[in-house]
Amino acid sequence: MISLGIESTAHSFGIGIMNNKGKCYANEIDMYKAPKGWGIHPMEAANHHERVCKLLTENAFRKADLDWNDIDIISFSQGPGLPPCLHVGLRVAKELGKEYDKPLVPVNHCVAHIEIGKQCTGSKDPVVLYVSGANTQILSYVEGRYRCFGETQDIGIGNALDKLGRGIGMAFPAGPKIEQESVGGKWIEFPYTVKGMDLSFSGIVSEGIRRYEKGIPVKDICFSIQEVCFAMLTEVTERALAHTDKDQVLLTGGVAANKRLQEMLEIMAKERGAKYWVVPREYSGDNGAMIAWTGILMEKASQYKWPDLDILPRQRTDEMEISWLD
Ligand code: ATP
Ligand code: FE2
Repeated sequence: MISLGIESTAHSFGIGIMNNKGKCYANEIDMYKAPKGWGIHPMEAANHHERVCKLLTENAFRKADLDWNDIDIISFSQGPGLPPCLHVGLRVAKELGKEYDKPLVPVNHCVAHIEIGKQCTGSKDPVVLYVSGANTQILSYVEGRYRCFGETQDIGIGNALDKLGRGIGMAFPAGPKIEQESVGGKWIEFPYTVKGMDLSFSGIVSEGIRRYEKGIPVKDICFSIQEVCFAMLTEVTERALAHTDKDQVLLTGGVAANKRLQEMLEIMAKERGAKYWVVPREYSGDNGAMIAWTGILMEKASQYKWPDLDILPRQRTDEMEISWLD
């Protein structure tokens, strides 16, 4: 079975093509870039997706050396995400499905970040730290769902880093720039906000911007914010491991690209005797391959009936029935 996956939840438009053995034929991505000092403008991101969708689809087929006769299903990200962006993905999926007579499979974007991480690394039953723009969740599979053991109470860690970046003069996405700037920075105390198993980042970001305005060096702010936020994430992931008695950890989502976060989790996993994996860089940020792959898992489990397909901008990870693992 070969699946064409369409990703369009936020800043990135992606077309991926994968087969049921996990072979990735193509993974074309193009990212909308907000002007310096600005966050994502949903309508402009959607316009970007409209502009690039045809070219990316053509490029994906060319790279894959396949044509529409080879495609069995079209998978698309149904939610969560920004409604104007999700609408582009749904429209493209519906039009292509109609034109080439292919069934559509609606995929949860967060579940796709988890499944591509598992597929690429071979982890089977991990505690997952899913860290991206809008989402920050500590999850693990228990009785038919990825249960959420802890999550952010306000903004996702990626959006927190992007917001800090906006406040200190960096362009979007700021995560990678903060990582570069953090090298050689000095530690300054920041509030550490873990509440039970949940986390909060927005107060830390406001404090970072306030300190920048008072003249504290950018390097020290970047270093210290990374240290405090990543320590919070590592603490909750460790507690989820202890509660679930599992012995595998998987780091996935856009912020998984960060080397310091990778290192902190690795140390924690080693100390607990747990196996540890990070999603490869190519699949850490939003991409079409992860949607294509999750569509295959859902289609193979084939318990699904797709009535009137619509976007689900607020769909949660733990709402989804994960029938393919049993
Ligand atoms: P979600 O999955 O919650 O819908 P998203 O789809 O917007 O979020 P992804 O593409 O999965 O996001 O991740 C993008 C985020 O990852 C951005 O916030 C970006 O700043 C962050 N990011 C990317 N690389 C790094 C890095 N090296 N260090 C820290 N953050 C990073
Ligand atoms: Fe994402």
